Amino acid sequence: MLCSLLKLVLLFPHFHESLNLTKKTNKRTTAVCHFWDSYMFSFCQYPFIISIAAKKVIIQRDSEQQMISMARQSLVDKVSRRLRPDMNMLFLNLKVRRMHLVSDSLDELTRKSADLKKKLKVTFVGEAGLDMGGLTKEWFLLLIRQIFHPDYGMFTYHKDSHCHWFSSYKCDNYSEFRLVGALMGLAVYNSITLDIRFPPCCYKKLLSPPIVPCDQNTPVGISDVSLDDLCHIMPELAHGLRELLSYEDNVEEDFYSTFQVFQEEFGVIKSYNLKPGGDKIPVSAQNRKEYVQLYVDFILNKSIYKQFAAFYYGFHSVCDSYALMLLRPEEVEILVCGSPELDMYALQRNTQYDGYLKTDLTIRYFWEVVLGFPLDLQKKLLHFTTGSDRVPVGGMADLNFKISKSETSTNWLPVAHTCFNQLCLPPYKSKKELKQKLIIGISNAEGFGLE
Ligand SMILES: *[C@@H]1O[C@H](CO)[C@@H](O)[C@H](O)[C@H]1NC(C)=O
Ligand SMILES: *[C@@H]1O[C@H](CO)[C@@H](O)[C@H](O)[C@H]1NC(C)=O
Ligand SMILES: *[C@@H]1O[C@H](CO)[C@@H](O)[C@H](O)[C@H]1NC(C)=O
Repeated sequence: MLCSLLKLVLLFPHFHESLNLTKKTNKRTTAVCHFWDSYMFSFCQYPFIISIAAKKVIIQRDSEQQMISMARQSLVDKVSRRLRPDMNMLFLNLKVRRMHLVSDSLDELTRKSADLKKKLKVTFVGEAGLDMGGLTKEWFLLLIRQIFHPDYGMFTYHKDSHCHWFSSYKCDNYSEFRLVGALMGLAVYNSITLDIRFPPCCYKKLLSPPIVPCDQNTPVGISDVSLDDLCHIMPELAHGLRELLSYEDNVEEDFYSTFQVFQEEFGVIKSYNLKPGGDKIPVSAQNRKEYVQLYVDFILNKSIYKQFAAFYYGFHSVCDSYALMLLRPEEVEILVCGSPELDMYALQRNTQYDGYLKTDLTIRYFWEVVLGFPLDLQKKLLHFTTGSDRVPVGGMADLNFKISKSETSTNWLPVAHTCFNQLCLPPYKSKKELKQKLIIGISNAEGFGLE
């Protein structure tokens, strides 16, 4: 039953129009509307019974439809203006200079905002432009590395929780946050996993609401946030606030706080009032609940509202499928960042070889060693080779993992071409040697392991 419904959705890519029809005529009489109704009924009411892989298929299928119709539209436009159509208009072509990566990417994505749902192709100015997937992936890796660097100032890194959060630093232009959102959307559509760590409430906010509201004044990214959400980002602060809530002695004297927050921005401590005149209002047993709630709202919403809104609109400028309604927040994370569950046997089955045969001794040693690794070394290997220690939804087959023979001396360590998910392995003669060199190689790779 479910399967056939799912097939129906896949065979019925025009459910956008059907919704449009419903909106326009407000008459629910046509078969199309009935279809939309049953779609809503069967999936949106019970989205938890569809697997995430199936949801990814729905979203990608939906985006393919949108890509095809956009490409068709460009074709029609060209022909009607008697211009010669060329292949490039089927792609989202970004031309960027390495030295101006962020600003060029931002400009290109803004200029080509009508093409965001076409297949992405990146060229670096002044370099040969053959993108077999490697340049696009490199573009993602370099941009993410730059944007998330703490010195760059857009995000702060929280060591205790290993995650990033939006910097509350105020500026007059938040378009770079829009770029980050768009990058995440592009990653979903182009099946790239990004090595970024946001706390769970980021994805909750990203789906609030799941479809961009028609009214531009409707706030976005507003969801119920609690101390638990704060705990995922700043565990110590959350712990302190919890203690305050359950404190049994004199709160006013022992905590000695007011309705005021102090935050460091670029090395400068700034203070903010949680409510008007907050610096003069002491926190007491009576008002401590309000204080905690305002504090949480300040960190997770108020102080970063504009940043988050730009990020939200960026993501939804690429991912504007109704299928997003099917997703739970943690599933959005898996679509963007990949799944943390590694199946190394599946990786083995899906690995391609260049210069080696599956049956070669070195390859047999390799898999014996890798399958025997503890999880953290397996993750390191994956990170070393692909730039991320997670795998795309849909599994290892989507990864195109490749082992190629490097004709260097076996004294050398293995190296990786991260942009192609490729490991270059010298033909080591013994299992012991292979294991030793592999562990040194993958353990010392710094950062994204870009060559
Ligand atoms: C949706 O409806 C609006 C007007 O109600 C129309 O302008 C637009 O082209 C329609 N979109 C699609 C995809 O049919
Ligand atoms: C913000 O910056 C971007 C890129 O630097 C620019 O294209 C845009 O016009 C700016 N917007 C405003 C409102 O200044
Ligand atoms: C979130 O921030 C916005 C903008 O500062 C504010 O209007 C809103 O009241 C805040 N909190 C909630 C729960 O909506």
